Amino acid sequence: MATGFESDLEMSVEDFTTFRDYVHEKSGIYFAENKMYLVKNRLQKRMAELDMKTVRDYFYHVKYDTSLKEFNHLMTLITTNETSFFRNEPQLKSFSDEVLLKMIEEKQKAGKSRSLKIWSAGCSTGEEPYTLGMMILEKLKGLTGWKTEIIASDISEAVLQKARRGEYAGITLRNVSPDMLNKYYTKNGDLYQIKPEVKSLVKFSHLNLNDTRKMAMMNNMDVIFCRNVMIYFSEEVKKQLVRGFFNALKPGGYYYIGHSETLHGLSKAFKLVYFKNALVYHKEVGAAGTETKTKTSTFSRPAKTATASPGAASGASRALDLLAKIKKPTVGVK
Ligand SMILES: C[S@@+](CC[C@H](N)C(=O)[O-])C[C@H]1O[C@@H](n2cnc3c(N)ncnc32)[C@H](O)[C@@H]1O
Repeated sequence: MATGFESDLEMSVEDFTTFRDYVHEKSGIYFAENKMYLVKNRLQKRMAELDMKTVRDYFYHVKYDTSLKEFNHLMTLITTNETSFFRNEPQLKSFSDEVLLKMIEEKQKAGKSRSLKIWSAGCSTGEEPYTLGMMILEKLKGLTGWKTEIIASDISEAVLQKARRGEYAGITLRNVSPDMLNKYYTKNGDLYQIKPEVKSLVKFSHLNLNDTRKMAMMNNMDVIFCRNVMIYFSEEVKKQLVRGFFNALKPGGYYYIGHSETLHGLSKAFKLVYFKNALVYHKEVGAAGTETKTKTSTFSRPAKTATASPGAASGASRALDLLAKIKKPTVGVK
């Protein structure tokens, strides 16, 4: 609800630019000029709580808080956390019926360790990693000796707290079948609680995907899901992030991005694989182990076209991406 304070809040273009560049440098999230009012709206409630009158005061409060408490608060304010269970079913079907089955078979045949390491990067309130956990349990039914680890990370502490609770209600459950609801959730009044057998597979951790030092510590992943996260980043941060994911994957691993996202213009390291249900990026066995940085520094200014709007990746760019892959089916590592 609007208050007198909110309508009084002033944000000059200079304040906005200072704030926006700081957020970009730290988190990779980039707000184009047309997002000024969105940023202002998201800040004003917090500023009122702190009794701060100017955006500049709040900026210094965030910047010089060495505990990072206010920075973490800010991340919760400015991130978009929309998610749901079984989001984008064709992609998930390709994961469970194609990628997962293939991996299980290959690992069994090769006598490799019976383990699956999956990363849900930008997991929001937990629906994505729990969905993956349920799908893995379904596929491993009747098989013995398998160990599954799902690492679920996000920059917002608030969403991670909710994720760890594992209690859900309402619209987020709309795509869960009655059978899965029965098997993997315990109904408690209006709430559906994730059962321990699923919960125990998922480890939640606070991770800023723009932190290259921490990103370098993520490795040996069989599959990475980073869906609907990159859309908020500048082009240079997207490139850096995709390099990080390439390096974090095992050779033979798979990488899922959001339905409206593309790697076109970001990376040629992955091969795009056409599964029956979806297109998935693949780190081929024999691809060079580490993709090195090719361009631009981490914190220099973003390209003009970058935008924080969801859906920024157009259908046209996806089509171009596909066309490029069709012409060159196997794409090498830079
Ligand atoms: C729209 S949600 C996507 C959730 C889920 N992956 C899905 O597709 O349903 C985007 C999430 O990315 C997180 N995020 C944004 N920037 C991030 C960063 N720099 N590091 C880690 N997580 C980030 C946000 O906090 C938010 O929870």
